[in-house]
Amino acid sequence: MSKLAEIDSYQQFLRDLFHNDDGDLARLQAEADSADLPNMSIGPEQGKFLQLLVQLTGARKVLEIGVLGGYSGAWIARALPADGKLIGLELERRHADFALDQWRRMGLADKAEVRVGAALEILPELADEAPFDLIFIDADKNNYPDYLDYALRYSRPGTVILGDNVRMGGSIVNPERQDSDWVQGMRRFAQTLSRDERLVSTVIPYPDGLAMAVVR
Ligand SMILES: C[S@@+](CC[C@H](N)C(=O)[O-])C[C@H]1O[C@@H](n2cnc3c(N)ncnc32)[C@H](O)[C@@H]1O
Repeated sequence: MSKLAEIDSYQQFLRDLFHNDDGDLARLQAEADSADLPNMSIGPEQGKFLQLLVQLTGARKVLEIGVLGGYSGAWIARALPADGKLIGLELERRHADFALDQWRRMGLADKAEVRVGAALEILPELADEAPFDLIFIDADKNNYPDYLDYALRYSRPGTVILGDNVRMGGSIVNPERQDSDWVQGMRRFAQTLSRDERLVSTVIPYPDGLAMAVVR
């Protein structure tokens, strides 16, 4: 389940029309709950948005940093063409195994893989697989500035770079939370994203701040 599961009646109206999970995605979330996976995947609104982005950009090669149970990865992999590839990086073996099992049951095993370990240790090994067409950053927030460095290194003109949770549930602008490594990391990430001349960028405020940039 998404950590932002509480929605108002307008959002519910939109969800009923555009964003309801189908059987496979609902099962993934229910089994993630039963398996006690952390409750912090994106919601169906962002999943649908990722699907649209993959299709709009014609992405074939996608990198995701922070896979959890494979919910966002399932949206991405489904939107890829038959020869497309999602490479996910995930710290926890348990999360990776859960995601791989779900993707296999959804018929996505050929299009999506997970590399297990700390992303900053795996990223240097991905140079030969770059450039990526779309890069989704959704892991430990203190490392977002380094993930953005790699994203820029592993991109080409037109690559889309996304980073979730800029709002951090409000912490990003909470004066009492400014000492946190995660807030400082997210602030640096947002500042770089907004100022780097190689990028055109914005943040979609809803639901928890989804940063989005395209490489010039
Ligand atoms: C917010 S969840 C990802 C949610 C997923 N993108 C989705 O929406 O379905 C963050 C994930 O990042 C993983 N993670 C945390 N630190 C990491 C690191 N240093 N390297 C790789 N993965 C990391 C966590 O184990 C967790 O599964």
